[in-house]
Amino acid sequence: MKVQRVQEIASLSKVIDTIPAEYIRSENEQSVISTVHGVVLEVPVVDLSDSDEKKIVGLVSEASKEWGIFQVVNHGIPNEVIRKLQEVGKHFFELPQEEKELIAKPEGSQSIEGYGTRLQKEVDGKKGWVDHLFHKIWPPSSINYQFWPKNPPAYREANEEYAKRLQLVVDNLFKYLSLGLDLEPNSFKDGAGGDDLVYLMKINYYPPCPRPDLALGVVAHTDMSAITVLVPNEVQGLQVYKDGHWYDCKYIPNALIVHIGDQVEIMSNGKYKSVYHRTTVNKEKTRMSWPVFLEPPPDHEVGPIPKLVNEENPAKFKTKKYKDYAYCKLFKLPQ
Ligand code: SIN
Ligand code: FE2
Repeated sequence: MKVQRVQEIASLSKVIDTIPAEYIRSENEQSVISTVHGVVLEVPVVDLSDSDEKKIVGLVSEASKEWGIFQVVNHGIPNEVIRKLQEVGKHFFELPQEEKELIAKPEGSQSIEGYGTRLQKEVDGKKGWVDHLFHKIWPPSSINYQFWPKNPPAYREANEEYAKRLQLVVDNLFKYLSLGLDLEPNSFKDGAGGDDLVYLMKINYYPPCPRPDLALGVVAHTDMSAITVLVPNEVQGLQVYKDGHWYDCKYIPNALIVHIGDQVEIMSNGKYKSVYHRTTVNKEKTRMSWPVFLEPPPDHEVGPIPKLVNEENPAKFKTKKYKDYAYCKLFKLPQ
């Protein structure tokens, strides 16, 4: 059976100025009601080119404890590399529907990779106003090129270049997170799988929505990755939950947005917090984002880093294989 994509629903809805009932959120979720208006929250910003490494470590660890999210500027990835990544991704989503379906996630596939739309409704019976594409970009042995668009032809090079550049940023982020808790520099990276860490690219495509007041893009969640590094386009939409309220998160051009995910929270034994976030949609504009999830390999066991566990600080989390954690989270079973 053909899956109906949000992009198709969006082009039909333009005419009728309404959206199907399964996209209308419950009142307490609707963003107009639950968002603190007039406040665009500035999440902490870290300048990675600062010559004072101690200062960077202080800012990264403070942000990871208090917020679970921060932006990095002067991260060393040329703006042109990011612009190309955005351009080829946008080009793919603007192709005729049949072309996108060529790399659709196969029906019944256990793997997450491919073009898709979340099939099952959320627990409350509601859907998000978003289509997506998932594919791994690193390490080379994990890559399945069948899920990479062939069109535009520059897609592959743009993604390979971004993957190559991103590694240094990721390695440094793990180092700063480690030093921030007085650990050996490689503690968090090794805890998350070391060089076997998987880089999973997702493109979110949020078409214009005639009733953005009633819908949501991605519903509220924390990421199950170790960390997530995200490139947005220029359309506002990421919201962060802080001190009991939802706030819009302000973008800085060319910055990367770093989310602390569940695996870092676990490894830190709760010192760092994974950020609770969601996305809103726009009436006129298409919003897109390119998060890369840094994920432990499926059989890698993740648990609190031993040095952070002692008599005063007992382990707050179980140690388990990443695939078992993911299974429990996906099916909402107790961890
Ligand atoms: C997500 O959290 O999955 C999406 C974030 C975004 O689009 O900014
Ligand atoms: Fe997320």
